[in-house]
Amino acid sequence: MAIRTIRLAGDEILKKKTKEVEVVDEKIVELVQDMIETMHKYNGVGLAAPQVGILKRIAVIDLYEEGDGPVTLINPYIIKEEGKQTVDEGCLSFPNQFAKIVRPKKVIVEALDINGKKVKIEAEGLFAQAISHEVDHLNGEVFIDKIIPGTLYNSEEDNKK
Ligand code: NI
Repeated sequence: MAIRTIRLAGDEILKKKTKEVEVVDEKIVELVQDMIETMHKYNGVGLAAPQVGILKRIAVIDLYEEGDGPVTLINPYIIKEEGKQTVDEGCLSFPNQFAKIVRPKKVIVEALDINGKKVKIEAEGLFAQAISHEVDHLNGEVFIDKIIPGTLYNSEEDNKK
């Protein structure tokens, strides 16, 4: 496993759309393991493949004490959103920048897991927020373009996503 370099704000790759994974093979598993390691290294709650320079539809999420360990989402699609929540948010590609944003309160996402098996996950609260944030990345969208105007602030806290 290896720590990958995180692409930062201004890198054009963050605005590009990703391609679906066709087969969950060894290379994909290695990429996912590296993404999880990289997310943990920088205390992120989530990380999407474009953030490590790979235009594939893959994201990882870890809610730490609020979850059950790392979650791998390969080819994720949100099939249902319910309600809204206004939340504080950050992103590993935007170090120390936080803002308020409106996210769905609940989502249902379909994806493949690390074994290539189809899964359907129902998420709410922080988990729903993280899924929404990461799926945006996979569609070439970054949180900073969707924040509530005037709420952006800088912080040295490492409470990042
Ligand atoms: Ni992000």
